[in-house]
This record gives sequence, C-alpha cells and structure tokens, in this order.
Amino acid sequence: MAARGEFSSRMAFVLAASGSAIGLGNIWGFPIQVAENGGGAFVFTYIILTFLLAYPILMAELLIGRHAKKDTVSSMLAISSERTRPLAALTGVWGMLTASFILSFYAIVAGWMIAFFLAAGADMVGISDVKQWLTDFSLSRNIIFCVLFYLLTITIVSRGIAAGIERWSTRLMPMLLVLILVLIAYIATLPGAAEGWRVYLQPDFARVLDPKLVISALGQAFFSLSLGVGTMMVYGSYVSKSENLPKLGAIVAGLDIGIAILAGLLVIPAMYVALHNGVTIYNEAGQLIDSDGLIFNVLPALFETMGGAGAIVALLFFSLMTIAALTSSISMLEVPVAYAIERRKMPRAKAAMLVGLSILAVSVILIFNFNALFGLVVDLTTRYSEPLIGLLFCLFVGWVWRRDQILGEIKQGFEGAEHSLFWRIWPGYVRFVCPLVVLAVMAQSFLA
Ligand code: PHE
Repeated sequence: MAARGEFSSRMAFVLAASGSAIGLGNIWGFPIQVAENGGGAFVFTYIILTFLLAYPILMAELLIGRHAKKDTVSSMLAISSERTRPLAALTGVWGMLTASFILSFYAIVAGWMIAFFLAAGADMVGISDVKQWLTDFSLSRNIIFCVLFYLLTITIVSRGIAAGIERWSTRLMPMLLVLILVLIAYIATLPGAAEGWRVYLQPDFARVLDPKLVISALGQAFFSLSLGVGTMMVYGSYVSKSENLPKLGAIVAGLDIGIAILAGLLVIPAMYVALHNGVTIYNEAGQLIDSDGLIFNVLPALFETMGGAGAIVALLFFSLMTIAALTSSISMLEVPVAYAIERRKMPRAKAAMLVGLSILAVSVILIFNFNALFGLVVDLTTRYSEPLIGLLFCLFVGWVWRRDQILGEIKQGFEGAEHSLFWRIWPGYVRFVCPLVVLAVMAQSFLA
C-alpha cells in the first residue's frame, strides 16, 4: 500500500485543522445562536465551554490519531484493551456515520452559499430572473448547487493530504481572514452598527446559566471545533511525530474561537444596520424572526439597501462562506474516506468518489424531505451524537488507554511534557471532569 499522507509542515496542519474547525458553524451558526440567546451571554458561556471542555477533547482526538497513525476505527482499536474492542470499534464507526450525516446537511447549506454568491454576480450584471432563481428555495436550485459543492469537496479529497487538503486549506484560509476583516470594517462604518456592537459585547450575566443557552453553547463548542466525529483524530494521524501537539491544539482552538468572535462582529452589527435600514429582524415578542433565515433573508435584504456597494459586499460575503464551508467539508469526507482506504484497501480517488456520492444520495433525500428531515438530522448529529461520542473518546483516553503510552505520545515533539502544566491537569480532567460535565449538560437538556 502507498505510504500514508502527512502534513508537510506545522503551518500546514494548523491551517488545515483550523480550516476544518472554522466553517459555517462559526460564520453562520455562531452569530445566529448569539442573536437567539441573549447576545454577549452566549459568547461568554461558549468561550468558557470551549476552554473547559472542547480543548481537552480536541487533545484527546489529536493524540489518539497521531499515536495510531491510522483511520479512526483502527485508531480507536489501537488504544483499546481486549475487553473494550467492540466498544472502540463502535465508537469509531458511529463517529464516521456522524461525520457523514453532518456532511449531508452541511453540503446543502454550502450549496446555498454558492448560489447566493452567483446571485450577487447576476445582480451586478443585471440579470434579475437568474438572480431570482438562485435565491429562491427550489428543488432544482438546492440539488444543483449541492451537487456542485460535492464535486468540489470530492475533487480536493481525492488528491490526498498534501496535494489536496493541505494545498487548498493554505490557499483559502488566509483569504477568509482578509475577507472577514474587510467586511467588519465596512459594516462598522454604517449607521446602526454601534447598537449591534453593544448587544454583542455586553453579556447579560443573568442568562449565562440558562439551560437552553448552555446546551446550545455546548453543541456549538463541539460542532465548531469539529469534535466527536473523528475529524480531528484523522487530521491528528497526519501530523508528524516531531510536533508539539498540546501547543498546536491550543493554536487551533484559539483561531476557531477568534474567527467565531470576528464573525459575530460582522453579522450582529450587520443585523442592526439592517434594522436601521427598515428590515424587520425581531418580532413583537422580541424574538429573532426566522432565525435560520438570518443569513439568507436578513443579510441579502441589507445588501439590497446598500445600493451599488451592496452587490460587491454580497459577493465578498458569500465567497467567504463558500470557502469556510469547503475547508470544513473536506475534513468531514476525509473520515470515511480514510476508513475506506485503510481498512477496505480502496485507492484514494475511488474511495473519495464512492463515499462522496453515497453521502450525496443522503443529501438528496434530505432535500426532497426538507421540512421533515433537515432539522432532525442537524439536531441528532450536533446536539446528541457529537457530545456523546466526545464523551466516549474521553472515557477511552481517561480509563482505557495506558497512561505511560499517553505520556510517551505527548512527549514526542514535547520534551518536558511530564513536568508541564498540561500533563498535570489534562489526564485527570479527561478522566473525570469532561465526562461529568458532558453528562450533566445533556441531562439538563432532557429535563429542561
Ligand atoms: N467545525 C465545522 C464548522 O464550524 C463543522 C464540522 C463539524 C467540521 C464536524 C468537521 C466535522 O463549520
């Protein structure tokens, strides 16, 4: 079998892993959740949960992956004991299925981003019936752009780690940062934006422990760092043994939070500019109208009110979204593709095509049964599966994987690991604190 791929440098891994983490979850999901859950209060709880829970679990995944240097199912088996093998395999497979189902809805939304991007172009050249078709919710549009998005994702994944995933992540991620900064700066100059900044940055501390807010923030923290599906495990398996993983993980988590916060600084003020321009965003009860439509209704309505500049801003905004989605979708597809290559001995190009098209079939089912299935799949995968699988990863690292082996793995690329703060806190933490907190938050969500 051909040698396994590996990221060619530290920078390449950081860009690819943060490319996976930074996606629609940050730029689409996060601002919506902020707007729905009391502005700054949500931001506050989300940041706390990311440090407290998500970073330790990210480290568990990265370490398992780099230790085994295999696909996720084989990696889980590599750290399991004789007795826990079945559970290890099950966890790996469940993660892989979750990654696939996440891709199945993610690609639909990403397809809309491409359609809205083209709509901005159609607007600029004045073909309004095309623009109308691109922005209307129709079966044909949903399917065509979803397929297009799959083709992009499959093409990149079939090229492999260095020539596909790494090359495109390093090209696209810096572009994303520049686009976001340009847009924040522009929106900040518009009337109404200041109110958005205020709502966003002033937490209402009375709400930070609201159960609904906490469970949403937990789901968001997991989803945003791509946890609980094996993505970070499989990316970890492509990292060289000479890298200091706790440090790289911290950089990735920091970048992910940073971009989410920046996306909020873009979208929340934009909402208030829209409000100022006469677009309705809250109903009489003070709730956000049509929360999912925020990006697809409120923002385009805002762009319309901006005259000639509107189309350019829309073009930039939706290209930003498409890029962010693509660097994430490739990481989702890589999980089952790595499995097909390593355990089923398929050539990469064939695996990418076969697995990609199978998941596309699921997307098409979702598109045809949109109202009944879309929200259900989103909830099942992101609210329940991801935290539960994350919990299982913690249990394996905390209770099954041998302590000396874990330390040995961390020490690769991190000489003084055993005397570090990380080693003093993290092992006990994934053993007790993470599982308990995940359980507590989930229990609360069932009771609430
Ligand atoms: N982290 C990605 C985002 O924020 C989504 C994702 C989830 C990617 C799970 C890979 C695996 O959009």
